[in-house]
Amino acid sequence: MARIEITVNGDRRVFDGNPDTPLLWVLRDHFGLTGTKFGCGMGICGACTVHDGKAAVRSCQVAASDARGKSYTTIEGLGKRNLHPCQRAWLEEDVAQCGWCQPGMIMAASALLAGKPNPSDAEIDAAMSSLICRCGTYNRMRRAIHRAAALSREAE
Ligand code: FES
Ligand code: FES
Repeated sequence: MARIEITVNGDRRVFDGNPDTPLLWVLRDHFGLTGTKFGCGMGICGACTVHDGKAAVRSCQVAASDARGKSYTTIEGLGKRNLHPCQRAWLEEDVAQCGWCQPGMIMAASALLAGKPNPSDAEIDAAMSSLICRCGTYNRMRRAIHRAAALSREAE
């Protein structure tokens, strides 16, 4: 057992438990942030994607001990005051089908746009192809990422 402090969505939280526990389960079971989804638990599907700083990371592959003292953003914190352009674009393009993969997709897409504000189709595909959507919403996601990029430009 260990006492591990982690900042999540700007709030300092404390996890008391096994330091090997994946961050995914710390977020979901201990902090009640169930927007981050479990898909494979093996780093394959991307459903558990959160931000470590600006980078997209797979929370099922981060041990609580490695998260100590770090700062993460989950889907709940992405648009804390206003919807993030990706969240708006996802709604406007009606991307979600069952919805399970979508928080991870939005976290990956928003990390992409943070580094590449106007990505090409090829750059979008390269960034998103390692995430799995069982419902096959890839074309709508690509449209939504272009729309989110446009919304961000309009807001500047
Ligand atoms: S649940 Fe983490 S990558 Fe699939
Ligand atoms: S919307 Fe169903 S898994 Fe992607």
